[in-house]
Amino acid sequence: MNHLALPSGTSVPTLGLGTWRMGESAASRRAEVAAIRLAIDLGYRLFDTAEMYGEGGAEEVLGQAVAEALRAGAVRRDELFIVSKVYPHNASRTGTAAACERSLQRLMLDHVDLYLLHWPGSHPLHDTVEAFERLRARGRIREWGVSNFDADDMAELWGLDGGTACATNQVYYSLAERGVEFDLLPRQRDRKVPLMAYSPLAQGELAAHPGLLSLAESIGVTPTQLALAWVLHQPGVIAIPKAVREAHLRENLAAATLKLGAAELAALDRLFPPPQRKTSLAMV
Ligand SMILES: NC(=O)c1ccc[n+]([C@@H]2O[C@H](COP(=O)([O-])OP(=O)(O)OC[C@H]3O[C@@H](n4cnc5c(N)ncnc54)[C@H](OP(=O)(O)O)[C@@H]3O)[C@@H](O)[C@H]2O)c1
Repeated sequence: MNHLALPSGTSVPTLGLGTWRMGESAASRRAEVAAIRLAIDLGYRLFDTAEMYGEGGAEEVLGQAVAEALRAGAVRRDELFIVSKVYPHNASRTGTAAACERSLQRLMLDHVDLYLLHWPGSHPLHDTVEAFERLRARGRIREWGVSNFDADDMAELWGLDGGTACATNQVYYSLAERGVEFDLLPRQRDRKVPLMAYSPLAQGELAAHPGLLSLAESIGVTPTQLALAWVLHQPGVIAIPKAVREAHLRENLAAATLKLGAAELAALDRLFPPPQRKTSLAMV
């Protein structure tokens, strides 16, 4: 598994597992816990969740799987990198701390490794940053960052007192949505702030893209593996595909070792052209 460094120097794997749509129904909970348990056994170490997902249900699923893995001795806590997010409407100075405590309770953990503001909201950003810094001082979070911030939002953040401590910006980035390459991604690279790519498989839609399918066939991989390998090929990018099915978990892990050559990259650029102008940040 490749790793990259956050601005603090902390090393994180470039491939993680998303948990959106988990924890939404009691009927699927056991399978979701089992999927995350398997993911840990297979070598996944970074897990992304949010208080929003299943209104806390995804955090509970992740917490249960992590607790089982720790109990079984399958992994040590310090080998895992757990990411969660605060709702913008909770991201006031006091609300952020309270939301974080609720998340920690559901996760059954004493700290999260990275805590993100889910998207820009109406609470002043400096209040959220202050709350994050307090949580960090108290050891409840190790790092903080943001999500769904466009280039101008990042400029505002970096201009705040303490704003340059931001560890990452998690945004939609996939072959199907390359807008961030125009300015956001280069600016984050300049500042050595990794971009965390969510929905790197375009929520599974890329599996059925005809052009991608035939290119992938010619290389001997699946279209989703090609799509994921392409995201992971981008410098300074972490990808967090979500998968519950065992075959998907295994396929995605294998995609992290795929090396793409100039011919494949050029063919992908023809199928999914890079942006020629600024577009507003896409969100799913
Ligand atoms: N910050 C934000 O605002 C934000 C927004 C969206 C997402 N996220 C995070 O990013 C994560 C990933 O994004 P996402 O869940 O929207 O979409 P995604 O990862 O692009 O796609 C997930 C879908 O693709 C399927 N899939 C996974 N691996 C596959 C494979 N190898 N072949 C075929 N299909 C495959 C999954 O199926 P199975 O589950 O059935 O295996 C699932 O239906 C989320 O779970 C969440 O943690 C963050």
